[in-house]
Amino acid sequence: MKRILLTLLTFFAAVAPSFADEGMWLPSLIAGRIDDMRAKGFRLTAEDIYSINRASMKDAVVLFNGGCTGELISAEGLLLTNHHCGYGAIQAHSTVEHDYLTNGFWAKSRVEELPNEKLYVRFLVRMEDVTARLAAGENRAEIIRKATAEGKGYKASIEQMYYGNQFFLFVYEQFDDVRLVAAPPSSIGKFGGDTDNWIWPRHTGDFSMFRVYASKDNKPAAYSPDNVPYRPKKHFTISTKGVKEGDFTMIYGFPGNTQEYILSDAVSYIAERSDPTKIAIRTGRLDIISAAQASDPALRIHYAAKHASVANAWKKWQGEVLGIIRRGTIATKRNYEEQFAAWAKEKPAYSHVVADLKAEYARISDAYFAREITRETLDALPKQYSAKERGEAVFEKRKATEQALFVYLFGEYARYCPVQYQVPEFLEGVAKAGSTKAYAEQLFKQVWQGGDAPAMTALKKATARMQKHITWLLGTRSLRNLNSKRLNELYTTYIRGLREWDTKRAFYPDANLTLRVAYGSIAGYEYADGEYHIPQTTVDGIIAKDNPEIYDYNIPQSLRDLYAKKDYGRWAITVDGRKTAPVCFLASNHTTGGNSGSPVLNANGELIGVNFDRTWRSTMSDIAFDPSICRNIAVDIRFVLLVIDKIGKAGYLIDEMTLK
Ligand code: ARG
Ligand code: GLU
Repeated sequence: MKRILLTLLTFFAAVAPSFADEGMWLPSLIAGRIDDMRAKGFRLTAEDIYSINRASMKDAVVLFNGGCTGELISAEGLLLTNHHCGYGAIQAHSTVEHDYLTNGFWAKSRVEELPNEKLYVRFLVRMEDVTARLAAGENRAEIIRKATAEGKGYKASIEQMYYGNQFFLFVYEQFDDVRLVAAPPSSIGKFGGDTDNWIWPRHTGDFSMFRVYASKDNKPAAYSPDNVPYRPKKHFTISTKGVKEGDFTMIYGFPGNTQEYILSDAVSYIAERSDPTKIAIRTGRLDIISAAQASDPALRIHYAAKHASVANAWKKWQGEVLGIIRRGTIATKRNYEEQFAAWAKEKPAYSHVVADLKAEYARISDAYFAREITRETLDALPKQYSAKERGEAVFEKRKATEQALFVYLFGEYARYCPVQYQVPEFLEGVAKAGSTKAYAEQLFKQVWQGGDAPAMTALKKATARMQKHITWLLGTRSLRNLNSKRLNELYTTYIRGLREWDTKRAFYPDANLTLRVAYGSIAGYEYADGEYHIPQTTVDGIIAKDNPEIYDYNIPQSLRDLYAKKDYGRWAITVDGRKTAPVCFLASNHTTGGNSGSPVLNANGELIGVNFDRTWRSTMSDIAFDPSICRNIAVDIRFVLLVIDKIGKAGYLIDEMTLK
């Protein structure tokens, strides 16, 4: 029996199966996952996903404007991404007369497509493991310089994987002429607003369309009226057959940042200290902003974007904390590192690493916390109001709100920032004025008046000095996660040790905004005891939420008419005997911020949806992926097509796509 067990164990160790749909895999190494993918339903090959010898799926995926993903869906450079990823461009073209944010935008022909300053996309040309070259002493900058010289518009970077255990060179081709083609009205593209954000069931048509333009020889070129639509090596075929629970799904995109291997100390810092404090600070901030918005329509509009961005992370953190607490992640992690430490006891290379990591966390936590609190408070306040802002009709109306924010955020800084890291100038200012409130009011008065605001300028400078000091303490400028130079070095060792010890675990590098493949299936989940959430929503759900009184739920009349006539054309489906149309679906792919706009593909590599969100409690997957609750949310491609066809009356765009 023991023998059999041992054989079985070695067998599993060799195959290193992923027991769930966890993982964000490097496309050039996807051959290592392909058996598992095929066992789960995938029908194509590793070469179909990533190849440097022929057109492959990677040639149809782009990094969209440095923070989102997009995909090519026609031979003429048509690109699909999220509405919230195109939001800045849509907003920039919107005026009171042409309010594309509210009414949507549909270019009726190529000449109507709108150029965008500073909007770019990047295709991955190739990636290459350069760990050995760097170890052999080759110069980093030189490797990048050579790669960049390979082609027009090429950009290159070297990124570390597994905390510096491996290094990859990424070579991109960047296109800077990207034009806006279409966007649905916000009441579709942002349906549900912040209320539905991070929530399932979901009914948001979160998509927008652009077109990549190139020079006549199909190379990157700055905007020119002479440019022509880019002819991609590959564009995705769209499947209109629909999805059902259990179907294989794959996501190809640019996830931004995960921390799957951090110690329990870091998880407890996040779940018990950082997140709760930042949530508390933002709750008060949102209360002030929301009250202003409710008091006056001009203020509602003025603070809309601010509210959305503050609320997005605020809501995500709450879900993350809830997920981590409910799943007992801190204890699970602690147990895991104790087991590792026991194994490492006799191994000099690893015997100290866990204790050293813990000591380093203890050393840096307060300093890093101070940095986070400063960002959430003092850094969030203006040093001055620009001339443009002062000229706006809404400016005077903002005064009470802006002052309230000064007083509130000064107070929160004083309350939460560890006192040894509070800026001395701040402490002196408070002492002189008699209270943080009096001090905040003094500074606000200066800033509001305009011209020089010496006290605020001095405070901002002193704050920057303190942040620099903290950077020095941590020894690194890359400060997006609780990290330090020393931690990073220790993690290099720790991860190497983990991979030696935990041979059953399927290791993948943390997300770092490089191209990744995630795969899973269309999947609902048990939301609460006895309450299963099915993975598809329909237009009926939009109508159920429709409410002209509530801004986020006030859908266009054309959509109401469509529903009344059930005029869904070829996009109609039948659910429980009723005629309706699909809107969003839920799947079990491991995704994070940056995966917005990513193509969701079926077993044949055909496009079935566009990723745009996760469920609230499952945002813990940035730290620990739990297959029972972690789900990503996508807009069903058939809803995208329905909106283009019936709301935008832009069927000519569908004509250039490849439908199946
Ligand atoms: N939660 C999604 C993301 O993290 C969508 C955010 C945009 N939508 C919104 N209502 N704020 O980016
Ligand atoms: N909305 C996110 C984005 O902009 C994706 C959601 C997530 O964090 O998974 O990338």
